[in-house]
Amino acid sequence: MKTIPHRLYLTEEQMPKQWFNLRSAMPQQPDPLIHPGTLQPLGVDDLAPIFCTELARQELDGSTPYVDIPSEVLEVYKMYRPSPLIRAYALEKALGTPAKIYYKFEGNNTSGSHKLNSAVAQAYYAKQQGLSGVTTETGAGQWGTALSEACSYFGLTCDVYMVKCSYEQKPFRKAVMGVFDAAVTPSPSNTTQAGRKILAENPDTTGSLGCAISEAVEAAVQSGGTKRYVLGSVLNQVLLHQSIIGLESKLAMEELGEYPDVVVGCAGGGSNLGGLIAPFMADKLTGKKDVRIVAVEPASCPSFTRGKYAYDFCDTGKVTPLARMYTLGSGFIPSANHAGGLRYHGMSPILSKLYHDGHMEAVSYKQTQVFEAAILFAKRETILPAPESAHAIKGAIDEALKCKETGEAKTILFGLTGTGYFDMTAYESYLSGRMSDYVPTDADLQKGFDSLPNIPQNQGI
Ligand SMILES: Cc1ncc(COP(=O)(O)O)c(C=O)c1O
Repeated sequence: MKTIPHRLYLTEEQMPKQWFNLRSAMPQQPDPLIHPGTLQPLGVDDLAPIFCTELARQELDGSTPYVDIPSEVLEVYKMYRPSPLIRAYALEKALGTPAKIYYKFEGNNTSGSHKLNSAVAQAYYAKQQGLSGVTTETGAGQWGTALSEACSYFGLTCDVYMVKCSYEQKPFRKAVMGVFDAAVTPSPSNTTQAGRKILAENPDTTGSLGCAISEAVEAAVQSGGTKRYVLGSVLNQVLLHQSIIGLESKLAMEELGEYPDVVVGCAGGGSNLGGLIAPFMADKLTGKKDVRIVAVEPASCPSFTRGKYAYDFCDTGKVTPLARMYTLGSGFIPSANHAGGLRYHGMSPILSKLYHDGHMEAVSYKQTQVFEAAILFAKRETILPAPESAHAIKGAIDEALKCKETGEAKTILFGLTGTGYFDMTAYESYLSGRMSDYVPTDADLQKGFDSLPNIPQNQGI
């Protein structure tokens, strides 16, 4: 019998040279981004004042199956990719499950998460376009860290609007971004019109990704054309870049003679999950394989499991185009969950469409359940996971425990998106028993739904 190693590293030559566009395999395309005023689908020219032109093209291209990864981007990828596929032997043993658990570990780069995969691509296209810099938001700080590194590498400025509660709770994240010369502003701030408006309405707000996006978009649009806004999740272009995770995973599993029965990933805006599942979902949609796909989200911010499939703004200040997605309403401000990267009101339009059409499932967990899983994983597998990633761990553990009940030896693949070394306040809060589980009531959620745009496309939702 073939011995399956603990860690499988593909060689540099095996690293994919193209990204895969999952939309090209979808029988039904996600609904288009529309202009909030005209309600008409947006073209590249409409998006060009906000996004880099090549990224705007990628955003709107639903048909090209494979996109060449520029050689300059590949050069950076080679510094930290291919990332390992790891068999969780010790976790399997601790659970007493017949299931085989694999995880794709994206935390082995200096940014500590999968976010670098898209940051490098986006910074590269900005540089190619001759821009001086980019603006962005960051929640937990991982995206801001990754983008700062990528911008520093390509010689661009990087203005990061960081959700205020993370800015205050994670000074070291801010310091890392400082090492890479990023300018970090706590959001909401007084530096933008959107920030001032949010502060006037809610002076004590600890911020949200939605608020920070409004500020970053405004800063780019006000730059006189020298900067563009970049986003680390949600968008089609980001899922395209993140497909490298799934492509490598599939190749590595093939080397082992394996194929997953279930793929599990955490879902904030959907970028790691969309990237991880891309080739597997394509196999499922084209009838080649039958694989279950499970999204895991926090019970405190349950976009898939309790949200509505509607057209909504991607930000709180309502300055972005409208996307059709599972959303809690752009006015929904999630409670201060420790998995900051999952505190977003919306979800990738691609994943939203797939979920709506019944091609994938979603579950939610309370944060204490997630930290319990994180600590079991850390003790068995010796990696301290990011709280966001721990949602996927919890989902995978529950799948493995189901196998223990049924006696099935299923193959489970999950995405371990990052490490949690900057999240020690959260771990401390769990270990001291101070961590609480806040789950919004239906009335809380209704306040968010009341903020959905009142447009014909949203009638009857
Ligand atoms: C480590 C990690 N995992 C997951 C996420 C969730 O984002 P996404 O759903 O776009 O993968 C984040 C977001 O910041 C993150 O930092």
